[in-house]
Amino acid sequence: MAIRVLIVEDESLIRWSLRQKFEEREYQVAEAETGEMALQAIDANTFDLIMLDYKLPDMTGLDVLRHLRQADQETVAIMMTAYSNIDDAVEAIKLGAFDYIAKPFQMDELLLTVDKALETTKLRREVRELRRVLQHDYGFDRIIGQDPSMKQLFELINSVARSNTSTVFLRGETGTGKDLVAGVIHYNSDRAHKPFMNITCTAISETLLESELFGHEKGAFTDARTQKKGLLELADGGTVFLDEVGDMPPVLQAKLLHFLENRRFRRVGGTQEITVDVRVIAATNRDIEKAIEEGRFRQDLLYRLNVVPIFLPPLRERGDDVVLIAQHFINQYAREFKKPISRIEETAFDKLRRYNWPGNVRELRNVIERAVLLCRGQTLSGNDIVVGGAPQSREQDDLAGLNLPPGGLDFHQLENKLLRQALAQAGGNQTRAAKLLNLSRDTFRYRLEKHGLL
Ligand SMILES: Nc1ncnc2c1ncn2[C@@H]1O[C@H](COP(=O)(O)OP(=O)(O)O)[C@@H](O)[C@H]1O
Ligand SMILES: [Mg+2]
Repeated sequence: MAIRVLIVEDESLIRWSLRQKFEEREYQVAEAETGEMALQAIDANTFDLIMLDYKLPDMTGLDVLRHLRQADQETVAIMMTAYSNIDDAVEAIKLGAFDYIAKPFQMDELLLTVDKALETTKLRREVRELRRVLQHDYGFDRIIGQDPSMKQLFELINSVARSNTSTVFLRGETGTGKDLVAGVIHYNSDRAHKPFMNITCTAISETLLESELFGHEKGAFTDARTQKKGLLELADGGTVFLDEVGDMPPVLQAKLLHFLENRRFRRVGGTQEITVDVRVIAATNRDIEKAIEEGRFRQDLLYRLNVVPIFLPPLRERGDDVVLIAQHFINQYAREFKKPISRIEETAFDKLRRYNWPGNVRELRNVIERAVLLCRGQTLSGNDIVVGGAPQSREQDDLAGLNLPPGGLDFHQLENKLLRQALAQAGGNQTRAAKLLNLSRDTFRYRLEKHGLL
């Protein structure tokens, strides 16, 4: 779409020369000679850019600017003013004008300012759009449930998201929605516009995990060729989701505890303490109390994490939510697989109600995905629902066939491959690719950058 510009200027020669330049660039140009005409134009149209003369016959550019702000448009304004009125230009910037240019101006200089302004609006729009998409993905309504236990949970999540509680501890069996809830908390907090980083403490070595979390200085260990910021630093102002915290090696547990208590840490090999403002959401599906008994988890860390504990109930204890969620997934997959399913047999629901769902919502999702795929015609029958014998989770299912080669493999290389595979599969869309790997978009981008893929 063409860029829409409004030129507010009483001197016709300036209007004319600006119009020439803008039309050369194929902008769509409107003009206003007076403040009153400008206000009318603003009310009647949306503009990307307003070139605003300070001294108009009937009012000042500041008055127009005020009106523009009230109209709440994403228009960027550039004030054109004589040198003697620089103070007014400063006032204009305070009112939200992007920049000012002193008259008489060089056309080149003016066009440069215009480019800068338009680039900023474009970025601002992209960020807003991205945030809208993410917030939509992580709205409260993404968590389906009407059981009293879930209603209580919503209230708790809501108040935690809005509070500035620095630590949250999510507990619940696998597949109960811990990832989902962590995202909902972040994207419904006032940290939403800052990064949401996630990392799983299982499956990577202690050294790697430590440097991922806390970063490292150049030369801290053999591979540390450059200084590297860790997730805590990168997420400053935002949220770090530490999944499977129960699997964290003891040395790191101590370091995490130190961070949670002081909000400060050192990079690996560093001497300086770094202070950041990060909310840590930790999660585990393990019996942490047992891990403490067995000496695998620090009691003091549990106390520290447990400031705000959130328990996600297993699906089998959520009453008829299983039907509600199943219905949701049926609609979703019917759409995705283009199946015209319009009726569901009661026997299908009975089967879902009777089963005990050890893999919780994740398992339910997989069972429904399969049922919808299998379903012929418009009615989903009890026979389409295969529970128990079905693999517990897609994740486990996919990994079941994976054997490491006898000589081991290069984790870094594998990660590189996974990142590229995900990008390819998502057609280059980073948000979707991140989803395929169950990473937040920020974490995904962080990893891309590390592999020089950004
Ligand atoms: N209450 C819910 N309503 C809708 N979808 C859910 C709900 N809980 C979990 N899910 C979905 O189930 C899957 C597993 O959830 P996840 O958050 O990954 O579980 P966990 O991290 O506890 O193992 C995800 O696809 C998630 O979006
Ligand atoms: Mg999870």
